[in-house]
Amino acid sequence: MTQDHLWMHFTRLSAGEAPVIVRGAGPYIWDQHGKRYLDGLSGLFVVQAGHGRTELAEAAAKQAAELAYFPIWSYAHPTAVELSERLAAMTPGDLGRVFFTTSGSEAVESAWKLARNYFKQTGKPMKTKAISRNVAYHGTSMGALSITGLPLLKQQFEPLVPSTVRVPNTNYYRRPDERMSEEEFGVWAADRIAEAIEFEGPDTVACVFLEPVQNAGGCFPPPPGYFARVREICDRYDVLLVSDEVICAFGRLGEYFGSTRFGYTPDIITCAKGLTSGYVPLGAMIASERLVEPFLAGDASFAHGVTFGGHPVGSAVALANLDIFAREDLNGHVRANTGLFRSYLDRLRDLPIVGDVRGDGYFFGIELVKDKATKETFDDAESDRLLRGFLSPALFDAGLYCRADDRGDPVVQLAPPLICEESHFAEMEQILRTVLTEAWTHI
Ligand SMILES: Cc1ncc(COP(=O)(O)O)c(C=O)c1O
Repeated sequence: MTQDHLWMHFTRLSAGEAPVIVRGAGPYIWDQHGKRYLDGLSGLFVVQAGHGRTELAEAAAKQAAELAYFPIWSYAHPTAVELSERLAAMTPGDLGRVFFTTSGSEAVESAWKLARNYFKQTGKPMKTKAISRNVAYHGTSMGALSITGLPLLKQQFEPLVPSTVRVPNTNYYRRPDERMSEEEFGVWAADRIAEAIEFEGPDTVACVFLEPVQNAGGCFPPPPGYFARVREICDRYDVLLVSDEVICAFGRLGEYFGSTRFGYTPDIITCAKGLTSGYVPLGAMIASERLVEPFLAGDASFAHGVTFGGHPVGSAVALANLDIFAREDLNGHVRANTGLFRSYLDRLRDLPIVGDVRGDGYFFGIELVKDKATKETFDDAESDRLLRGFLSPALFDAGLYCRADDRGDPVVQLAPPLICEESHFAEMEQILRTVLTEAWTHI
């Protein structure tokens, strides 16, 4: 079988034949030659409940046999209704109206469109701009890409949608002043959002997109107090807080929603990935009652939708997935084991190449540096050689599928299925130790 007709996403096609993964069970996957790998990234932050859950496959088959497809455009079907009720009961605050999509990008796109539309409906038509953080990834459709803070991903597609503004992320390891405590850094980072709103003019800013723990750049958790202060700032300027939880929802941080983990109530949550544990695609934009209000009366309607949003099969699988979460207490399992997982990764700090280990729940990043004392990072060529040339293939060959990423500074990202336990943490640590030790000799 040739791969000549498959256009792989975000992939150098010149890299040649890609590994072919044919099967999964629990936290493991197998390639076409029968070799086993630990799935250290849940596919792509997706397979929360683990691979090979026949229960989810059966839920999909049952629903497809009963009603394979019907839109949620002026009609409803039972699984989408039930799933919206289940999700509404899990969200923080009064986020109770669920707008289904098929992907995270569509959820982000929908959130920005809702923010703009809401302010038009409520007499503030100038409020259109979206603020987001440097290095943050929010998706690839033109709106979501415009909100994304990674210039290299954007430049091939310029000009993008106007009216987006970037603020600093919460990279405490590379804080502007070494003397800052975490709390001081949190105040500083949150205040950059207030400053951006002031610079742009509060009457022109609609929303701020933030991930609970920022993925791109390598797992930046929020400093203590950050989200409380951001919430205050958003309220002060009547700017909507969008919690982009495409990665951080459904157990990744030990709660159904990442905002619950950090104790803040956003105006909108965007989610996808883990909602179905990836057994079929489904995403959602979940809005607070206040945002739905203008659409409840008369001839108002949100002129937006996608054919497969709230797909019956996706909704049925999501319900079965949430049943697994409840029955096996996956959130509790993550909360109980996150400390142990972290402690295994922290052991790697003795290696000269490991600058920082950070994250939360089952979501960690290991930042690689050239010089630990000065935190000097690798230049582009070194990073390319190290990550693409050596680390990614070497980790995979050693039996660990994870991600070596240099969209920010070079990091190795780990986000395994939520069923993982101590033996898997030990396996990851052992493979990482061997490969990172060797990596040092390749610099
Ligand atoms: C925070 C965040 N938002 C949005 C997206 C886009 O989601 P999708 O790839 O499903 O369109 C991603 C994807 O990784 C993401 O991590």
